Amino acid sequence: MTDTAYDGKGIDDFHRRRILASVKKGISLLDPGKRRLLIFAGILQLSLGLLDLLGIALIGLVAAVAVSGVGLTQIPAPIEDLLDTLRLGNLTVSQISVILALSAVTILIVKTGLSALMARKIMFFLANRQAELSVELARDFLSRPLVVIQKWTTSEATYALGAGASAATVSLLGSGIIIASEVFLFLIVGLGLLLFDPVLTIVAFSLFLCIVLILQRVLGRWSARNAQTMTDARIANLTIVSEALSTYRESTVLNRRDLYVAKFEANALTSARTSALSAYIMEIPKYVLEAALYLGILVLAVVQFLTKDWGAAAATTALFLAAGSRIIPALLRLQGAGISIRNASIQAQPTFFMHDYLAALPNNEISSTARITAEEIHRSIESGYPGFSADIVMENVELRYESAADPAVTNISFSCSAGNSVALVGSTGAGKSTLADLILNVLDPDLGRVLVGGVTPREAILRWPGAISYVPQNVALTIGSVRENVAMGLPRDHIDDQLVWDALRRAHLADFLTQFREGIDTNVGERGFRLSGGQRQRLGIARALYTRPKLLVLDEATSALDSETEQAIIEMLNELESEVTTVTVAHRLATVRRADLLIYLKDGHSIAQGTFEEVRALAPDFDRQAALLGL
Ligand SMILES: Nc1ncnc2c1ncn2[C@@H]1O[C@H](COP(=O)(O)OP(=O)(O)OP(=O)(O)O)[C@@H](O)[C@H]1O
Ligand SMILES: [Mg+2]
Repeated sequence: MTDTAYDGKGIDDFHRRRILASVKKGISLLDPGKRRLLIFAGILQLSLGLLDLLGIALIGLVAAVAVSGVGLTQIPAPIEDLLDTLRLGNLTVSQISVILALSAVTILIVKTGLSALMARKIMFFLANRQAELSVELARDFLSRPLVVIQKWTTSEATYALGAGASAATVSLLGSGIIIASEVFLFLIVGLGLLLFDPVLTIVAFSLFLCIVLILQRVLGRWSARNAQTMTDARIANLTIVSEALSTYRESTVLNRRDLYVAKFEANALTSARTSALSAYIMEIPKYVLEAALYLGILVLAVVQFLTKDWGAAAATTALFLAAGSRIIPALLRLQGAGISIRNASIQAQPTFFMHDYLAALPNNEISSTARITAEEIHRSIESGYPGFSADIVMENVELRYESAADPAVTNISFSCSAGNSVALVGSTGAGKSTLADLILNVLDPDLGRVLVGGVTPREAILRWPGAISYVPQNVALTIGSVRENVAMGLPRDHIDDQLVWDALRRAHLADFLTQFREGIDTNVGERGFRLSGGQRQRLGIARALYTRPKLLVLDEATSALDSETEQAIIEMLNELESEVTTVTVAHRLATVRRADLLIYLKDGHSIAQGTFEEVRALAPDFDRQAALLGL
């Protein structure tokens, strides 16, 4: 996401359209069935507003009846008609008041209860969608080529798949529903009051509408800018922590840890302050609206009592007070939701961006295939990969990294039959790792094709998981025991201890492990801090050997080993040779001297191919290097 990240620059021209677009986007990420369900739930939530209207009308009625009773005046004719229709005409004034009041309270409580219930249902519905969105996006993301993955930093991806997905569903759509139902309540109550006293209603509603719009405008922008700062600070802090941990040694020796702490401090402070500000912005409307209500009712009462008779004035005031007491909380929820939806539509941008970016890429076959299970992987390993042939063919392969002017590798062709060994040599940056990545399905070629056993590497990996293995130069260890690291990702009940020990023995790590009381249960610690560089590399080799692969790709896999251990590992690999195809990237030419096919690369071009001696004869550069090493 380093090139075209969601941009915070447009915040100043941030307007409703972007929120609407975000809400639409959020809805479009739901599948059609779920979308209908959400709309249905929304409508149900809206219709609860009708109960509110009924409750308020009844309260108004109580007020009118009570006032007429107290004032010993006649009950107004329309109300009397209504009471007759309800067959309450022959009851005493106090009986009617009690019945009406009870009904009003019951209706309002029922409505509140139902609303709470619906709110819970909708929240959990959205929470489930959030989890689905995270998982689907994660699966799609993880199955993309390395060049795509590398566009996101770890923290950006963590955010987009976590907090961002939450903003895109729970916050964004949840706020959307709250806004829709509160606006509906507002309209319906307004309509009711309009019938009762049009002028007053229009005046009162215009007043509140003005206040709400001004608040939204002022607070909304403020809050949106704040949300952007908050999102950036959170992502930045994730980055700082992971950077500080991964450069621990360097930053210790350079005494730069305090610089990380200072950066962390600045961001922690920003993050905390923006959170506080966000909470405070939410509170402001409460004070403003409460003050407006009291002021409004005061003005209303004064005007009413000056212009109308006592009873009618009291009834109107009571009705508007009832409506106000119902409308103000609704307005507050509306305000809150209005601010939340702005924030959410900003916080969801990294997730939308990731979704759209991935959706614009060519169709992703892997993410649309059925998910593989540990059981299937285990069975594949045990099967010995019948039908898989570890021969490699590359035809006119070219790959250019997006940021680069020239291709990293170009016009590369070679073939290697099963059981043979290929060595990729050449100076740093020559394209060796890139070629290895192309065989591993980590990169897709721009031109030409790569075949393993007659099919694309992707298909080979899908059909025979475990048949192709890889040892990187920098082995990343997982948190947990040696066993868990060797059988990376497999759950305990699908790990074959026999295979683990076998792999460890062949990687010359078994002897070392017997020093520990816990054997393969020994914990290696996060990031493998408890292992030496060579031990970690051997653990990486054991991990690759665990599946008893037919094709083994080693990228500088023995560079951290002492020459004796390296020699032992190379001999072990040579022993495997008849059954396993190896692709070895190595700077130490001695390690690749016996390769069946040596490919000498320079600036992405294949300069010479053949056995070690043949390449020496073909490429003077290479000959000089070999001679320098005394070979
Ligand atoms: N992800 C990437 N994005 C952009 N350019 C890259 C990327 N990975 C590698 N390159 C560039 O592609 C070229 C080939 O890189 P590659 O890693 O294949 O070299 P190499 O032969 O393995 O080198 P080394 O011996 O140093 O490991 C280099 O110029 C490198 O800068
Ligand atoms: Mg490399």
